Amino acid sequence: MIFKGNAVSVQMLEAGIAELNFDLQGESVNKFDSATVNELEQAITALENTADLKGVLATSGKGVFIVGADISEFVPLFEQGPEAAGEHLGKNAENLNRLEDLGVPVVVAINGFALGGGLEFCLACDFRIASNAAKVGLPETKLGLIPGWGGTVRLPRLAGADVAIEWIASGKDQKAEAALKAGVVDGVVAPEALRDAALNVLQQCIDGKLDYQSRREQKKAPLKLNGIESMMAFETSKAFVAGQAGPNYPAPVVAVKCMQKSAGLGRDEALQVEKEGFVKVASTEAAKSLVGLFLSDQLIAKNAKSWEKKADKKIGHAAVLGAGIMGGGIAYQSALKGTPIKMKDIAQAGLDLGLSEANKLLSKQVARGRMTPEKMGSILAKIDATLSYDSFGDVDMVVEAVVENPKVKQAVLADVEKTVSEDTIIASNTSTISITHLAEAMQRPENFCGMHFFNPVHAMPLVEVIRGEKTSDTAVARTVAYANAMGKKAIVVNDCPGFLVNRVLFPYFAGFAGLSRDGADFQKVDKVMEKWGWPMGPAYLMDVVGIDTGSHAEHVMAEGFPDRMSKDYKTVVDVMFENERYGQKNGKGFYTYETDKRGKPKKVAKQDTYDLIAPVVAETKEFDQEEVIARMMIPMATELARCLEEGIVGSPAEADMALIYGVGFPPFRGGIFRWIDSMGVEAFVAMCDKYKHLGKLYEATDAQREMAAAGKKYYA
Ligand SMILES: NC(=O)c1ccc[n+]([C@@H]2O[C@H](COP(=O)([O-])OP(=O)(O)OC[C@H]3O[C@@H](n4cnc5c(N)ncnc54)[C@H](O)[C@@H]3O)[C@@H](O)[C@H]2O)c1
Repeated sequence: MIFKGNAVSVQMLEAGIAELNFDLQGESVNKFDSATVNELEQAITALENTADLKGVLATSGKGVFIVGADISEFVPLFEQGPEAAGEHLGKNAENLNRLEDLGVPVVVAINGFALGGGLEFCLACDFRIASNAAKVGLPETKLGLIPGWGGTVRLPRLAGADVAIEWIASGKDQKAEAALKAGVVDGVVAPEALRDAALNVLQQCIDGKLDYQSRREQKKAPLKLNGIESMMAFETSKAFVAGQAGPNYPAPVVAVKCMQKSAGLGRDEALQVEKEGFVKVASTEAAKSLVGLFLSDQLIAKNAKSWEKKADKKIGHAAVLGAGIMGGGIAYQSALKGTPIKMKDIAQAGLDLGLSEANKLLSKQVARGRMTPEKMGSILAKIDATLSYDSFGDVDMVVEAVVENPKVKQAVLADVEKTVSEDTIIASNTSTISITHLAEAMQRPENFCGMHFFNPVHAMPLVEVIRGEKTSDTAVARTVAYANAMGKKAIVVNDCPGFLVNRVLFPYFAGFAGLSRDGADFQKVDKVMEKWGWPMGPAYLMDVVGIDTGSHAEHVMAEGFPDRMSKDYKTVVDVMFENERYGQKNGKGFYTYETDKRGKPKKVAKQDTYDLIAPVVAETKEFDQEEVIARMMIPMATELARCLEEGIVGSPAEADMALIYGVGFPPFRGGIFRWIDSMGVEAFVAMCDKYKHLGKLYEATDAQREMAAAGKKYYA
């Protein structure tokens, strides 16, 4: 052994070959945290000082190669300012240069994930041999960053500008075969053959049969592109990349610009350009938010995993009651991810609809070549559509998704409870009704909880798991385990009308109702909120949710929180509902839904909406953007703060992720609490005070005032 650290070791194999091994002790994966970077520096020094060294084989002792930089170190680092970020980068960039400049060939055996800094390490080696199970990629732009350890320099020089632009701007993982085709790795073999294959390539380098030196020169020289080629590669892709990313995500374009700027430079100067680009994006709000979001996502995944560990039993067989929009979606998702499910309805027409929805979704995948017809058949066979409770005694979990009516739900829940075993968990997919209230009709309320999916089930990642007053830990644990098995992001919350997401979504709609009443044009409000980052503005969102569903939920919420959610005026949504304009589902809501020439749905705004709402709104007037944003966002933000203070949700991170995954809150803002933090709690409270004449939803909470006075933040 010539070097032994906690994460990195170097030992001599036979015939002058050293093995540089990554195996971070006490962790399941390898990552480039500061300690590993320091150890790599020492390991390289040891290699440089080894006499008679002939070659280096780089390997991993884990199931992955290296998953990238330790993102949790970024938050405190970025707070220290651009110099600190640059310095942090500089250290490992220097390591990789020294590795590339070693007097002997270096070959890496990529056994699993090599992402971000992990792939950048591999790019600094002379040859890359990958297992067919490996995946590689540079995901930095997804975090609002750009590669900082030579990714923008070595990837274009090795694989060409087009590959580098595509890989870096998209941030996507690539399978080993795709990496081979793109020229990013030099060979792909079965996992068991990896080590020998990599050693063999290394020996060929040592024996002079493979020219590793010319490989190095290629990576260190300017890109081989003439002016026109360079223009074609960079200028044309810049516009495309900017269009794909959108104005709120600057990193992909900065990455392309860096590659363009450094195309004519040698390695060391090009690395300097990369470093400047990194420091620039690292100080953007988008990077701060996206890095924070990545960490929050890890936190909710960890929470969900630890609930799953507490589940004493796996859900082997499930059932869903109601084969409507939601029931059909739940059956599809369960079957797709491997849990067989009974789908029960009271009407054959309902069952037919549920099955045809599943059929449609699967057929699309078959048509796109993503699934074989056999696989589709086997998934459909996992959905057992039925009109009876026969053999419900065998199911481990029932999800109730019948109409949103407390009396109907209570009757259905009491019925199904009689047909299942004492151990079966029953969950309701209600959007708003208190779980504790529904549980009153049940014999075993401890086995009952909420499992709130979002529409469309297959596309929306979030599931709220709601704990009623009598819900047991077992019920929560098994429900979370089932959500995990369905590939969903489960967040456990406590019970109240609307739970977390709908409880804060309806105050947002209340903001819209107030603005409309006071003369704001609904189309303009939509535009402002879409520009702010929402995938759709409030009027359009209400149309998509369904005006009937929304109006009903609004009343349930008003009953639950009359002091701030009941209204003493007729709203524009009430008018839409009275006129049976239910939104996208019946082709008319705030907007009219038509089909364009290519058969795609298209929304158009027509005068008749303005005529209908005229009696309940003031004369149209202009509101400046800032006011629209404040009046829309404050109610959502104060209600979310109340949810946190009441313990409905466990942490700001879970609350922010729930809104991002549940209703598409703009990810680059990192969530509502991050948004408040970015302006400062004091500024937020001042903004509330400005609008407090609009009602209780515009009042900052006492705790927020205390935070403001103490200069505190939601994220420490
Ligand atoms: N649609 C959404 O956007 C959405 C989102 C989240 C949650 N939810 C909730 O999911 C539930 C279902 O909503 P949906 O939109 O799918 O409604 P839906 O009207 O599309 O479907 C309800 C289905 O339940 C069936 N049904 C009625 N009584 C039944 C009974 N006794 N036994 C079995 N089936 C019965 C009906 O025949 C119908 O097929 C509601 O509680 C709703 O609040 C809906």
